[in-house]
Amino acid sequence: MSDLTHSPAWQDLAAHRAEVAPLHMRDLFAADPDRFARFSLSAAGLLLDYSKNRITGETLPLLSRLAEATGVAGRRDAMFAGESVNNTEDRAALHVALRNRSNGPILVDGADVMPEVNAVLARMRTFSTAVRDGSRRGHTGEAITDVVNIGIGGSDLGPRMAVDALKPYQRPDLRVHFVANVDGADLHDRLQGLDPARTLFIVASKTFTTQETMTNAGSARAWLVERLGDEAAVAAHFVALSANPDAVAAFGIDPADMFVFRDWVGGRYSLWSAIGLPIALAVGMDRFEELLSGAHAMDTHFRTAPAAENMPMILGLLGIWYRNFFHAGSHAVLPYDQHLHRLPAHLQQVDMESNGKFVTRDGQPVDYATAPVIWGEPGTNGQHAFFQLLHQGSEFVPADFIAAAESHAPWRDHDDMLLANFLAQTEALMHGKTADAARAELTARGLRGAALEALLPHKVFPGNRPSNSILYAKLTPAVLGALVALYEHKVFVQGAVWGVNSFDQWGVELGKQLAGPLLAALRAGDTVSGHDGSTNGLANAIGALRRGGHIE
Ligand code: F6P
Repeated sequence: MSDLTHSPAWQDLAAHRAEVAPLHMRDLFAADPDRFARFSLSAAGLLLDYSKNRITGETLPLLSRLAEATGVAGRRDAMFAGESVNNTEDRAALHVALRNRSNGPILVDGADVMPEVNAVLARMRTFSTAVRDGSRRGHTGEAITDVVNIGIGGSDLGPRMAVDALKPYQRPDLRVHFVANVDGADLHDRLQGLDPARTLFIVASKTFTTQETMTNAGSARAWLVERLGDEAAVAAHFVALSANPDAVAAFGIDPADMFVFRDWVGGRYSLWSAIGLPIALAVGMDRFEELLSGAHAMDTHFRTAPAAENMPMILGLLGIWYRNFFHAGSHAVLPYDQHLHRLPAHLQQVDMESNGKFVTRDGQPVDYATAPVIWGEPGTNGQHAFFQLLHQGSEFVPADFIAAAESHAPWRDHDDMLLANFLAQTEALMHGKTADAARAELTARGLRGAALEALLPHKVFPGNRPSNSILYAKLTPAVLGALVALYEHKVFVQGAVWGVNSFDQWGVELGKQLAGPLLAALRAGDTVSGHDGSTNGLANAIGALRRGGHIE
């Protein structure tokens, strides 16, 4: 047994779980008219209602004791102080410095990072303003109308999610696109209809060595040069966002068009850095800074609020409650806000790349579950797809519902319908429908006897399925910043409790290593033999199909 599962705080929670398991939330609500007031709080423009969780007044204090026992607050303070919290790469994890709008000093190895952070922001302002006002032009003197961000993982998901989220703040005459996949279809489809003379490419890669990004960047470069007929056009049409200035220079991008960030910015936490340039181009630098301010407000809340009133702490600990004590294997993120349709994808990386670990910071195997599978789709679409399983399936899936009181669309009636569905779903998940209630409904519909009894079990909803609701007035840049920072810190809290390093991602390496020799073999058209039977068989089937073979 590990120290964690052996600890009194963990054992107390295990005992508490046995007490809570038989309780139904509908009874807890019936017994306590103040449950919403007791189990909700607001911070940084977000209201969190966590009353529809399988908790009593004792649960959070017990979870907070686990947080204390595992030193979550100390780890948080170490992160904010610029300490080397990413121990396997010997680095700080300082995305909070990128949005440190109060501008107080943050030291890494004794040097304040804020002057450099501010200098990059100033350069992003100058550049994005010049593109947006038409003073930065293409090689042939045309204004830029389309920006194509080429990046993958954190160099794609965060900015793509934010650009989609902030669509109401964009201009129709400057479109921002994203290409990530090494599948040539992604770039090829994206380039259709674009005018090279009016297109700006952003090559976004922290390492500037990522195979997908460098391959797409090379193909985009060739497309541009071929169409504009001049190698010199690259300088006017390519900029780079990276922590590897030497590799950027080797690619041929002018150092003046290079926006750098430090290795203490993790890929999945990088949208606040120069990686956010496509966001600034899409909505303007003032809006980008509002995004940073929203995140900073959440940072300040996370750093200063007591555990019992600390939103990321509460969300993180509730996640621990379900993952470790109710064995929930997944967690759904369900935005009832169409503009957040890419948020689940972004949070998959934030959560699963951070805490998808099977050893602790000091390399000991864990004997408890770590990150759940994160998934989700916007409401109401999901209701017509997978909500059946949420309501009546055999899986136990805690969910976060995220909703705006008002959308940016002009139709109030749509907002009312969307919000009625959001409210109804959380209520239905919590309350369920008893056999008695279902029987009464069926009887009222005229069903009797065997026909009623046959249908009855299908009409019962067990309920007692937990959800958090996160509500805000309207999806502004500041609200988006606060929301994303909330999830980053939630993930941090969980990683600290589990004792894992939330800031490395060694698990992505093996596939990359194995792809190298397979790529060489596919390129050469060689027979593949050095792998397992399945991999050899598939690689050789590809070769046969390419030589004109067919599948029966
Ligand atoms: O392969 C995983 C990963 O390293 C992510 O952590 C990262 O966000 C992504 O690749 C892209 O990396 P880069 O920005 O260096 O191209």
